[in-house]
Amino acid sequence: MSKKVLVTGGTGYIGSHTIIDLWENGFEPISVDNGCNSDVSVLQQVEILTGKKTIHYNIDLCNKTESEKIFIDHADIQGIIHFAALKAVGESTEIPLVYYQNNLISLMNMLELASTYKVKAFIFSSSCTVYGEGQKSPINEEADLIPASSPYGSTKQFSEQIIKDFCPTTDMKAVLLRYFNPAGAHPSGLLGESPKNIALNLVPVITETAIGKRKVMTVFGNDYDTRDGTCIRDYIHVCDLAHAHTLSLEYILEQRQPDPVDVFNLGIGEGLTVLEIIKAFEKVSGQKLNYILGDRRPGDIKAIFADNTKAKEVLSWKPNYLVDEIMKTAWIWEQNRSQLPL
Ligand code: UD1
Repeated sequence: MSKKVLVTGGTGYIGSHTIIDLWENGFEPISVDNGCNSDVSVLQQVEILTGKKTIHYNIDLCNKTESEKIFIDHADIQGIIHFAALKAVGESTEIPLVYYQNNLISLMNMLELASTYKVKAFIFSSSCTVYGEGQKSPINEEADLIPASSPYGSTKQFSEQIIKDFCPTTDMKAVLLRYFNPAGAHPSGLLGESPKNIALNLVPVITETAIGKRKVMTVFGNDYDTRDGTCIRDYIHVCDLAHAHTLSLEYILEQRQPDPVDVFNLGIGEGLTVLEIIKAFEKVSGQKLNYILGDRRPGDIKAIFADNTKAKEVLSWKPNYLVDEIMKTAWIWEQNRSQLPL
């Protein structure tokens, strides 16, 4: 049986780490990306790390005719891992239609092509943001979804629904992976997060401040009802996250998944505050971080962390990296980044 897997958003942060994990587990990943927030040169780093050359298509998945070329070239694709999407929460409130058009049309094109070309497995990159505000943590997959607080979050909720409606009409099965807060970098120091757009997530903001790309960083709010007043999140290492995609693919291809669609939380299962993350960084880097305490960021949820029991039991997944390694690999990556062609 062919081991070909199409990875959309393949040159992005989680996509590129997943391509490595797929090669390491005997799959043959093919990458597609429109390059809007990443550079194809990451695939050179993947080649250094795996010894494998990944076939890449520079295509916008909103263009179905162009996208079909991939399936014409590779009619035996077994699975699709669909990462390609816009993901900035704040930006999505400013240009919601761009988010709906891009994230939903590309998804529907992929689903239609997957069905036409008899793809067996579809893995979707979802987010804990689908749970919405005000739910109790640890949160499990059974929780009701409250309307999302941003168009970005809505695109994840709508995408999940589209997949749930579509898959039962086909022979394809799908897994929805709800990520908590992806962070860290490949332990080799050769690959990590290198977006073209300005980094907004906590961990890259910390490392960029420490290396001097930013003078100072702001902790958004220290008046929340939490142990130190700052927000709580569940930070999960990108390599652990990547491996969960390979396991999900195997779960479907080995015909162990009973239902057309299954869903898994991917987090460490422990919540950490913003200040605890900063302390972990200071410990592993031996460096004091220049930060100030500022106002809350609109739209932020007070606290959310995963109940990851289902992924552990059903997929035999377990997180191997904890917060110190997340911060250490992120810091090594930040220091190496400027010397690499990314
Ligand atoms: C959110 C979504 C997540 C989505 C991600 C995409 C939720 C619960 N999570 O993550 O699903 O994938 O956006 O970008 O909606 N912070 C600071 N200073 C900074 C940056 C961040 O204090 O300069 C704080 C934030 O206020 C927050 C925490 O750090 O409390 C994490 O923020 P961030 O890394 O942006 O991720 P989320 O907003 O949790």
